[in-house]
Amino acid sequence: MSFTNKTAIITGGAKGIGGACSRVFHRENANVVLLDTDPIGQALAEELGERALFIRCDVSKEFEVKAAMEKAVSTFGGIDILVNNAGIQRYSTVTETSEEEWDLVMNVNLKSAFLCAKHAIPFMQKRGSGVVINVASVQAFISQQNVAPYTTSKTALLGLTRSIAVDYAPQIRCMAVCPGTIDTPMLRDAFALSPDPAAVYQECVDMHLVKRIGLPEEVGELCAYLASDKAAFFTGQAIRIDGGLGITIAGSKKA
Ligand SMILES: NC(=O)c1ccc[n+]([C@@H]2O[C@H](COP(=O)([O-])OP(=O)(O)OC[C@H]3O[C@@H](n4cnc5c(N)ncnc54)[C@H](O)[C@@H]3O)[C@@H](O)[C@H]2O)c1
Repeated sequence: MSFTNKTAIITGGAKGIGGACSRVFHRENANVVLLDTDPIGQALAEELGERALFIRCDVSKEFEVKAAMEKAVSTFGGIDILVNNAGIQRYSTVTETSEEEWDLVMNVNLKSAFLCAKHAIPFMQKRGSGVVINVASVQAFISQQNVAPYTTSKTALLGLTRSIAVDYAPQIRCMAVCPGTIDTPMLRDAFALSPDPAAVYQECVDMHLVKRIGLPEEVGELCAYLASDKAAFFTGQAIRIDGGLGITIAGSKKA
């Protein structure tokens, strides 16, 4: 799975799943470009050292995305892999959601993937090949209460995935990765909203058939595999990495 001389752009690459992707792709010899609004990404890039570049970038803004892709190319000579991972979670129903909140979630979770693909794919075409991975969620298939904008944005990412796969085949492959509950700062922030975070944690553990929540590194390893030549027959699909979350009928028990 060597990415020697390849350049991977990781959005939201400073921490959580994106941070793990940055580490895994770097370990596999890729040049990694971390795009994030959180300046802590600079510390991760410095820790990774050579072949790592942090660019502070709000990936929901086209002029920032375009400038970041150009900077990545002027630094490393091209773009081969794009992991659209940046995302935010908000909790509300349709009737509770303001227009601003709806637009924010759509812009960060969905429009960013469109913008990054729009400005990265022409550089992949110059190379003759490329891979786009969109980090969606199991919430593209199953859902819970109070996540209307989030679950909508993640479901729409699957449509974007198919469109990119169809429009740019065979040179460019595109897949969606759909994680279950993963132990990241986003998840810990969500737990902190509850009066009993330990109980919510246990609930999450129990929802997964493997009786644990996932690790960011597990998603990073899957993204790296899908981006590699070993996965050359994958395109257009949504791949769940979810410990079996949501495949049982509620309340079903062994006889
Ligand atoms: N953690 C989970 O349980 C889980 C489950 C399924 C899907 N996901 C998805 O995985 C992705 C990563 O989630 P995470 O849990 O690692 O989140 P996280 O909050 O821990 O990390 C997300 C990163 O994205 C960055 N980011 C947010 N908005 C940005 C913007 N506009 N521009 C650039 N960077 C931005 C943040 O600064 C942060 O570094 C998200 O798309 C999320 O929806 C997470």
